[in-house]
Amino acid sequence: MTTVVPATAHGITLAAYALHEGKLVAFPTETVYGLGADATNGEAVAAIFAAKGRPSFNPLIVHVKDRAAAEALVEFTPEACALADAFWPGPLTLVLPRKGNSPLSLLVSAGLDTVAIRVPSHLVAQILVAEAGPIAAPSANISGHVSPTTAAHVAEEMGDKVDIILDGGPATVGIESTVIGFEAGKPVLLRPGGVSREDIERTAGPLAAVTNAKVQSPGQLESHYTPRAKLRLNAREAQPGEALLAFGPDAPKGAPNLSAKGDLKEAAANLFAMLRALDKTAGAIAIMPIPSEGLGEAINDRLTRAAAPRP
Ligand code: TXA
Ligand code: MG
Repeated sequence: MTTVVPATAHGITLAAYALHEGKLVAFPTETVYGLGADATNGEAVAAIFAAKGRPSFNPLIVHVKDRAAAEALVEFTPEACALADAFWPGPLTLVLPRKGNSPLSLLVSAGLDTVAIRVPSHLVAQILVAEAGPIAAPSANISGHVSPTTAAHVAEEMGDKVDIILDGGPATVGIESTVIGFEAGKPVLLRPGGVSREDIERTAGPLAAVTNAKVQSPGQLESHYTPRAKLRLNAREAQPGEALLAFGPDAPKGAPNLSAKGDLKEAAANLFAMLRALDKTAGAIAIMPIPSEGLGEAINDRLTRAAAPRP
């Protein structure tokens, strides 16, 4: 049975207790809702893969309370420290070598010798990781589906597969964290996300191109973030049978608009909720062009995957 619990102090303590017991807890982060398990408990982590129906070669992000907690689990380099200092807490994930004595379940890394780690800025997530310790959490959706940005989405998506859903309101960033790996010490962009490339490059210098993406970010399957409806990108208007997902001030009135003022942050926050709502009523969705600067890169990455041929 799933219980939806408001994210009060009491609710968070209940959730931390459930995590200690090896249960699954969905919780809000600033990006999207996560499906969390105690990252040191192999069986609990395995339950995440089972609940998501996720291919087991896809490793998970570990959420910790601060940089010191991260340093107990992974090896930092000066480049990684600079990024952590600039963007933690916040929607940035760093992929770093696992420490030899790390208590993390090996399943978290799904066979790699690295761990993806981040410090969330959402207050509820911060209190939860402070109480419960490192939490392994992918987005709280069935593998390949659209990520949830509200507790109601999680309930819809996961049904009884999760023990507790902590309701902390809608996720404010609305798109997953930016994932940065390192090749020969230099940062590479493994997944565009809530921190824009421009912001990362201001701290880290130009991002190098990924050369061994398959090994580095096995989660980047082509078709991902998939609604049931067919998607058509860069559409100027809807064809018969399509619903329009608009963007910007020049869009036809009446269609749901990711951001009527053309603000990419607002568009990211609305993306998954609007896709999910349209997916319920429309067989096909035409999406207006989104500029690829700032958070637009992450939005277009998700949309391109969602529109890719289905496996
Ligand atoms: O915003 C987020 O990042 C959300 C919230 C819940 O924190 N989590 C999330 O997790 O999006 P997930 O599991 O859906 O995506 C994790 C991404 C995948 O692309 C995966 O391949 C990559 O991180 N990843 C995880 N561990 C990795 C590793 N050791 N090496 C390379 N990539 C890794
Ligand atoms: Mg996901």
